[in-house]
Amino acid sequence: MKLNFKLNLSLIAGAMLAVSCGGSGGGSSESETTSSTPAATPEPPKEVNLEEKYKDDPVFIRGVELMKQNDCPSCHMIERKIVGPSYADVAAKYESTEENVEMLAGRVIAGNVGEWGEIPMPAHPALSEDDAKDMVRYVLLLKK
Ligand code: HEC
Repeated sequence: MKLNFKLNLSLIAGAMLAVSCGGSGGGSSESETTSSTPAATPEPPKEVNLEEKYKDDPVFIRGVELMKQNDCPSCHMIERKIVGPSYADVAAKYESTEENVEMLAGRVIAGNVGEWGEIPMPAHPALSEDDAKDMVRYVLLLKK
């Protein structure tokens, strides 16, 4: 009987403790948590955001428009290699000269392999040369 009573007491005390810790949170306990753990906003990458840098350039705007109508984004991203090289990598490799634009536009239309690895870029026979060139101009614009 005595033992039982003691046990009950400690159970009640335990329950009360749990309530006062977890459940009684008014405004004060919330502000405590925010001040002790500073908001963990992820640091933006230090390098330049190329999209931000060139977003007002007409070559950029035209390129984005054309890319959206084609399958390019499924294999290419601006700053990250996915299936194909990133546009930034392509831009770093080639000067933006008229010859290079023509040469690369030809490769986009005909397809290419071996320049960046074993994965081929499929041909885009439906593309006009002008559109292909506009897309390549956009790619080569994206220098850091
Ligand atoms: C199925 C995936 C795929 C698609 C779709 C694709 N590419 Fe590619 N692209 C690649 C791969 C892979 C390479 C690397 C080819 C190589 O190593 O020669 C590449 C390379 C390139 C290059 C660099 C060529 C060189 O010789 O250095 C350019 C520019 C390019 N792509 C533009 C485009 C454009 C513009 C489109 C849309 C019309 C497009 N790609 C669609 C996979 C793709």
